[in-house]
Amino acid sequence: MTWKSIGIFDSGVGGLTVLREIMQSLPQEDTIYFGDTARVPYGTKSPETVTRYAGEIASFLIKRDIKLLVVACNTASAVALPTLKRQLTIPVVGVIEPGARRAVEMTRSGRIGVIGTAGTIRSSAYTRAIKRLKPDSEVLTRACPLFVPLAEEGWTDNQVARLTAQTYLKELKDAAIDTLVLGCTHYPLLKPLISEIMGSGVILVDSAEETARTVAGILGEKKLLRPSTERGNHNYFVSDIPAGFVRVGNRFLGGRLGDVFQVSLDDETGII
Ligand code: DGL
Repeated sequence: MTWKSIGIFDSGVGGLTVLREIMQSLPQEDTIYFGDTARVPYGTKSPETVTRYAGEIASFLIKRDIKLLVVACNTASAVALPTLKRQLTIPVVGVIEPGARRAVEMTRSGRIGVIGTAGTIRSSAYTRAIKRLKPDSEVLTRACPLFVPLAEEGWTDNQVARLTAQTYLKELKDAAIDTLVLGCTHYPLLKPLISEIMGSGVILVDSAEETARTVAGILGEKKLLRPSTERGNHNYFVSDIPAGFVRVGNRFLGGRLGDVFQVSLDDETGII
């Protein structure tokens, strides 16, 4: 019996935080990762553009016969998920719903903060998902665009990172939220610093962890899980030269990155 892979994509290297969690909870699964390094960042782009990019990548991955698609990018999940779900026949998992569900489970006061890229925050996707699950919750949001380059630079615990985080998080801290959703692929790398600034009373929700749990649940339900005695293989594709992705990616993935291949999406007509 041949087993299909899990397809996973992001605007670049950040989605490796989601892949890492999937590899940890489902080590038997094969994966195909696509990082759109030629067109990153998505967080500053319009919903129409991000949705078109997502459609092209989905078309590339579908051709590789995946069994489930993970939209690891928060921005792409926020703006393109409904379209991808409508167009594809395989299960499509975004990072917003799992993160929102976990936040609602964890909050006691109902005051929930969400941080993400400008695109994610502007879309209000997290706010809508949280309110759908818990209508009486109060959701406070803040775009933190500089966290992305800081994480990629490895500046997660120096003065620049601390001052930036203090500035971005001040309002949320003053608003006495008790739960904070890390609504961007890069933010798990800044978790210790964010936690230090917000204080031990604030629970940090890592969308990457929750998404891996959701993927495991869906594959289990559909009887698509590989036997746990197997070991997964991992394939990496990017749309620009791999050098930068390899350098930063190894840090995001904990040094386990395999060969990375550059591909062109020019031939993908997209599914949208
Ligand atoms: N992957 C993006 C996200 O999670 C962050 C980087 C970008 O802006 O493309 O929203």
